[in-house]
Amino acid sequence: MAQAQLLFPQDFLWGTATAAFQVEGNNTNSDWWAWEQQDGRILHNQKSGLASNWWANAEQDLDIAAEMGTNAHRLSLEWSRIEPEPSVFDDAALGRYREILQAMHDRGIEPMVTLHHFSNPLWLVEKGDFGSGVVVDYFRRYTAKVVDVLGDLIPKWITINEPMVYVFMRYLSGAFPVGKHRGWAGALRAIPNLLRCHAAAYHTIKEKLPEAQVGVAKNMAVLQARPGSSALSRWWAGQISWLFNQMWLDSMQNGRLYFPVGRRTIPHLAGSYDFIGLNYYTRFYVNFPPVGGLLSDKWEPDAVVSDGNYGEIYPVGLYKIIESLLPYKKPIYITENGVPDKDDQLRPSFLMTHLREIWRAISFCYPVMGYYHWSLVDNFEWDRGWTQRFGLIELNPETQERTWRESGRLYADICHSRSLTSRQAEKYAPELLQTIFRGESPIAEPL
Ligand code: BGC
Repeated sequence: MAQAQLLFPQDFLWGTATAAFQVEGNNTNSDWWAWEQQDGRILHNQKSGLASNWWANAEQDLDIAAEMGTNAHRLSLEWSRIEPEPSVFDDAALGRYREILQAMHDRGIEPMVTLHHFSNPLWLVEKGDFGSGVVVDYFRRYTAKVVDVLGDLIPKWITINEPMVYVFMRYLSGAFPVGKHRGWAGALRAIPNLLRCHAAAYHTIKEKLPEAQVGVAKNMAVLQARPGSSALSRWWAGQISWLFNQMWLDSMQNGRLYFPVGRRTIPHLAGSYDFIGLNYYTRFYVNFPPVGGLLSDKWEPDAVVSDGNYGEIYPVGLYKIIESLLPYKKPIYITENGVPDKDDQLRPSFLMTHLREIWRAISFCYPVMGYYHWSLVDNFEWDRGWTQRFGLIELNPETQERTWRESGRLYADICHSRSLTSRQAEKYAPELLQTIFRGESPIAEPL
């Protein structure tokens, strides 16, 4: 039978994503390391330990990434390694990052580097971290050092990973370190400081490397009222969605700070991004009043939900969110998308259905330039420790043994062929033969 094929553009980037603390191991100067040592902070009190052992041997996974046929990888740098004490930069750590970045280039894998991915040097915490304005100069100086020593190897940059998730988890839910200065007051101090850090890093990079592409990785979720709910709930969902999804981008676009009140202008913030990095995972229902917490309403009873109630699998949401980004008129990279699924029951179909939505967006000439699957290899999932496995490659953290998941083989086929095919569906996710190849997928409604 003829094979159906959804082809992607020649220059589309096929990638995977990781973050330093989650894969490197032994990040003993980080606030996360200290957090892990406290009883009850991480599910089952698990420890990151060697993590995926990247500090010693990132190269073994980069070999796998190359074998998979990827040509891009998003990784982050651990600030607490590079600057273990204020103003003391560790040349050996910077040297090791040079080796890792060079190893990527040697394998035809283009690096996208994140400067801040949730973890902080312990000394910064002592100084008040993002709750204090002093963070801006420290972040600028750290960025300048990285640009000087590693910049020639980094074509694409992310300043800060998921700032609004960070604010929510660090200041409001308390699932992230450091447990001090929590609450709305702290959150409202951190938001402008994070925006200032972003602007400082953007201009520091661009002054020294005008050709570099610099953006932010923004987690965006579909946040909507449950069908049939009240007008008040629909209004509330719109407010929450704007706050979580759009506010940060609007601030970067026009330089204004919307909180607490007064719409202040942040110097040098307007227009300080070259692309939008979109991290997309799921949809949540949001109802008013938010009894039991902001996101407690969650999903329909028949929704397909991934391991540990992480979230509903909702591929059309990716298309909807891409559409919502069009007014910003910037290139879009999907800088994270993945699913916790230890047994790999959901991931093959997850991969194909989400990539199908990207293909659909590209076919309307929407500027989606690349896809970085979260994640290449199982890694330490923050407060959920090792209980949630996002890897295309399975890892046994004790033995460090790696095993290809079927979804890893599927992604390899996709990357090598630069397409989604009915043959892949036959082999890895036969249920899709009736939907993405022969039927209709739901048409997206506006967000
Ligand atoms: C974060 C990653 C995390 C992933 C899965 C993203 O929000 O950037 O660090 O592992 O989600 O939860």
